[in-house]
Amino acid sequence: MDWGMKNRLARIIQPGDGRAVMLAVDHGYFLGPTSGLEEPRKAIEPLLPYADSIMLTRGVLRTSVDPGSNVPVVLRVSGGTSILKELSNEDITVSIEDAVRLNVSAMALSIFVGSEFEKQTLVSLARLVDEGEKHGIPVLAVTAVGKDMARDARYLGLSCRIAAELGAHIVKTYYCEEFKSVVQSCPVPVIIAGGKKTPEMEALELAFNAAQRGAVGVDMGRNIFQSDCPVGMIRAVRAIVHEKTSVKEAYKIYESAKGGKARRAAQN
Ligand code: R5P
Repeated sequence: MDWGMKNRLARIIQPGDGRAVMLAVDHGYFLGPTSGLEEPRKAIEPLLPYADSIMLTRGVLRTSVDPGSNVPVVLRVSGGTSILKELSNEDITVSIEDAVRLNVSAMALSIFVGSEFEKQTLVSLARLVDEGEKHGIPVLAVTAVGKDMARDARYLGLSCRIAAELGAHIVKTYYCEEFKSVVQSCPVPVIIAGGKKTPEMEALELAFNAAQRGAVGVDMGRNIFQSDCPVGMIRAVRAIVHEKTSVKEAYKIYESAKGGKARRAAQN
């Protein structure tokens, strides 16, 4: 692995503890104005100080993130579908030249193992890895789960392993029972997505359990930006991932930030 690739990976997975807190705000690429992200800049700005990296599309990056911000960017480079159609029919939507121009630390693409366009997405992954290798840019493969697939260790283990075999440098997947076996059979670092919004305590438990069972961190979106206190949630998640805080202690961080937010609102 060359210096540039290693340096970019170190911007995402922190060299101090080998852990990563990635803020996922790329949902609009197929969901449109997702709840909590209607005004991307407003949602993103307060969270940036607590994110090791941010995952988003070039459209939101250009319009809603200050170029002077030092946050490492994981650029979503797959898409071409919407929630109204077959989601697996994705292609690569950003050229490598534009990814370089945007100074990204990694490129992210979804694979849809077992779905109608499985092959297309897997070949896209392999091509993206080829381009990434030429320019020293790592690739994050997202194991998207088709509607007929079970989110179990067998299926997610299959998807993660295929992603790694095709050359992905990091894999993002979902937490599941027997998660440890998914991590063990994937030779590259695994991070988890948060999934649909759940009560804050459950989302923190998910982050904790995943980190305990081998995930290097989280790429969490809705459970942060759809929370009633997004800053409290990202700080709590951060404490779990980087400080190995218990769920109970992390929940206190969220609650205390929420209390502060309520007090400030009452004063204004
Ligand atoms: C989904 O396709 C996107 O890649 C999201 O970034 C990913 O699902 C993580 O976000 P969430 O925590 O909301 O699931």
